[in-house]
Amino acid sequence: MEEERIISARVRSEDDLQENTLRPRTFDDYIGQNKLKENLKLFIKAARERGDSLDHVLLYGPPGLGKTTLSQIIAAELGVNLRATSGPAIERPGDLAAILTNLSPYDVLFIDEIHRLNRTVEEILYPAMEDFALDIIIGKGPAARSLRLDLPHFTLIGATTRAGALSPPLRDRFGVVARLDYYNEEELKEIICRSARILQVEISDDGALTIARSSRGTPRVANRLLKRVRDFAQVKANNIIDGKVAKAALNMLEVDELGLDETDRRLLRTMVEKFGGGPVGLETLAAAVSEETETIEDVYEPYLMQIGFLQRTPRGRVITPLACRHLGLAFGQDGGQNRLW
Ligand SMILES: Nc1ncnc2c1ncn2[C@@H]1O[C@H](COP(=O)(O)OP(=O)(O)OP(=O)(O)O)[C@@H](O)[C@H]1O
Ligand SMILES: [Mg+2]
Repeated sequence: MEEERIISARVRSEDDLQENTLRPRTFDDYIGQNKLKENLKLFIKAARERGDSLDHVLLYGPPGLGKTTLSQIIAAELGVNLRATSGPAIERPGDLAAILTNLSPYDVLFIDEIHRLNRTVEEILYPAMEDFALDIIIGKGPAARSLRLDLPHFTLIGATTRAGALSPPLRDRFGVVARLDYYNEEELKEIICRSARILQVEISDDGALTIARSSRGTPRVANRLLKRVRDFAQVKANNIIDGKVAKAALNMLEVDELGLDETDRRLLRTMVEKFGGGPVGLETLAAAVSEETETIEDVYEPYLMQIGFLQRTPRGRVITPLACRHLGLAFGQDGGQNRLW
């Protein structure tokens, strides 16, 4: 379901192949997130001048906005190795200890989905982040002794789609905490033009803008749509993407001008048809559309809220008049602030 959607911001298997060719390698190629970029450049310069490791960095925000990409750029700019792993991949404290003791000085350790680290593993991380030390317990029971090993200075970069799910002691140990925001149309257009150059397909301003508008503020979606539109252009339009070709291709993919696909529309329609526009609880809504609550929370909702189609209220999710207008559904006379019917 979710994984099949062309506008899904999550990685799909086909992305792996080309995500690397399209992935920016330097800050100059990394479009948007300007304030964050400026800050990071400064912190990196300062760390290099001091001859020390960069402070630990936590990057959070919805999927596909460039967290992994940014981590790789940071490591490259620092001129160090990047060791990448993920929260669920580190099962036991010993796994993390092995990774930490194998780092070289100033290396970047990248932990994706860091909110999914288990507690015992997380506790190894506290002294490692704070004092660059590893506490090992030797023996069992009353005879157990604790031994402290020094680790090389390193930089932990944690990435998560849910900063709220991170435990406070872990969050507090990051010196830099940065939220990645959705990209605006101009930025997405620039990303699409850059990717089109790499994919060697001709694209007009209008064509790039049309794809940008349907990209849900997300570079991963922009690149994926570009590739599908390119297929269309290759077969039907001499490999040239202009506004008309882009529109026709998106139409064929059933992606509308706001980037909504059939699944989004089904979710919104269900809210209206079965729940009178809301408020409806997350679990109830998830059951009604046969999706997991986590998928709804992490993938659908952030964008629908961003474009003002959905609101979270204490009593549940509510659809907005704006969404109803877009879908051509009727809504109440009261302006539909909370109840639409
Ligand atoms: N600022 C950017 N400029 C240009 N391209 C970008 C930018 N950010 C991301 N991309 C493109 O989008 C793709 C997805 O980015 P990335 O894998 O870094 O996202 P992510 O935030 O790590 O996602 P996830 O939460 O799923 O791990 C990259 O392969 C890259 O091509
Ligand atoms: Mg990632």
